[in-house]
Amino acid sequence: MTDHEKGHPGEEEPMPPPALSAHHPLQDVTHLLSGAGTAIPLFKVHMPENVLEPISKVLMSGYVGQGPAVEAFERALVPWFGNENVLSVNSGTSALTLALRLANVGFGDEVISTAMTCTATNVPILAMGAKIVWADIDPMTGNIDPLDVERKITERTKAIMAVHWGGYPCDLDGLNRVGRKYGIRIIEDAAHAFGATYHGRPVGSHSDFVCFSFQAIKHLTTVDGGALVCRDTESYKRGKLLRWYGIDRDSERKDFRCEEDVLEYGYKFHMNDVNATIGLEQLAHVGEVLRRHRENATYYRDRFQELPGVKLLDYRTDREGSYWLFTIRVPGRRTFMQAMKNAGITVSQVHARNDHHTMFKEFRRILPGVDQFIAEQVSIPVGWWLTEEQREFVADCVVRLCQ
Ligand SMILES: Cc1ncc(COP(=O)(O)O)c(C=O)c1O
Repeated sequence: MTDHEKGHPGEEEPMPPPALSAHHPLQDVTHLLSGAGTAIPLFKVHMPENVLEPISKVLMSGYVGQGPAVEAFERALVPWFGNENVLSVNSGTSALTLALRLANVGFGDEVISTAMTCTATNVPILAMGAKIVWADIDPMTGNIDPLDVERKITERTKAIMAVHWGGYPCDLDGLNRVGRKYGIRIIEDAAHAFGATYHGRPVGSHSDFVCFSFQAIKHLTTVDGGALVCRDTESYKRGKLLRWYGIDRDSERKDFRCEEDVLEYGYKFHMNDVNATIGLEQLAHVGEVLRRHRENATYYRDRFQELPGVKLLDYRTDREGSYWLFTIRVPGRRTFMQAMKNAGITVSQVHARNDHHTMFKEFRRILPGVDQFIAEQVSIPVGWWLTEEQREFVADCVVRLCQ
């Protein structure tokens, strides 16, 4: 090409717009979805169209950090948790880490925890330099057993970590009784349990620390995000500092981030106004999302009650789960999972037992409840996205395979 053809000598050639290559982030993501766009999914992102207007306002406002939307989101969460002391954070894992820190868990301490969960529950315990002591679970709920927790207490126990499997609340009375008796803090990992209730009060209002996740596929998503709810105001105030390096964002500073003495180290765990704006819009829908999960679960429980090849989990009337998962126990799980897959239905064990991971090998012990649960547990689609026909189809397949 001559200079003439290119334009005037010395004139910059305009850059062509970048082509959408196969590696562009906007490429088709169907294959990454639960169900890969063909099978009935086990999870689905709930993203209402009405996030678009407020989100573009925030993005173009010139301020996208922790600001008024974060403040508003935290206030809007208060009735859902039945607790004023809400700290939004950038993930459920951050909430768990912050809770352990606020419970003063440190090097060499012991934390009693459950193996039946996402690794995100237990990795932060290792990150504190603490030791994990596994307590067994109730094989008919997947939740930690307070009686076994009490048996595992030593003078080094600093905290008890409980997970509400699939969103079905643990025996919080039993756990808090043990916590009070020995002066040990209870941390609830309520990542699955947004909107669940126990004795008619929301999960969030029962223990020292309750951690939520607003990750992509939870009932309420902020894309990524989470919340820590603290029982006492002292922990809340300290948590507010530690979620942002230990610096007090509320104090008057003459020169941006300077001047304040930082008393103890913290983290970069705060939420920002972009995620919080999504959260605020989601809150208008989450009641309906929960209603749909619960309605589908009630339908399955009715359909599977008398089914010989399925063990339904235990459901008590003093608590209401959020049914993030609908887990059943199926003795011939492998064949069952393959048959469901062949029928175009996504099913999964969702979480592997944590105690068998190499990173936790030094803490291994005998856990008969986990053994029983892990051998048979499998979750079937229960979420808001199911049509009545799909729900009936899922139930029909389970009945056909398990009678
Ligand atoms: C039981 C449990 N705890 C903690 C987490 C971590 O939450 P996040 O992904 O928001 O860090 C998850 C994530 O899905 C989870 O399922």
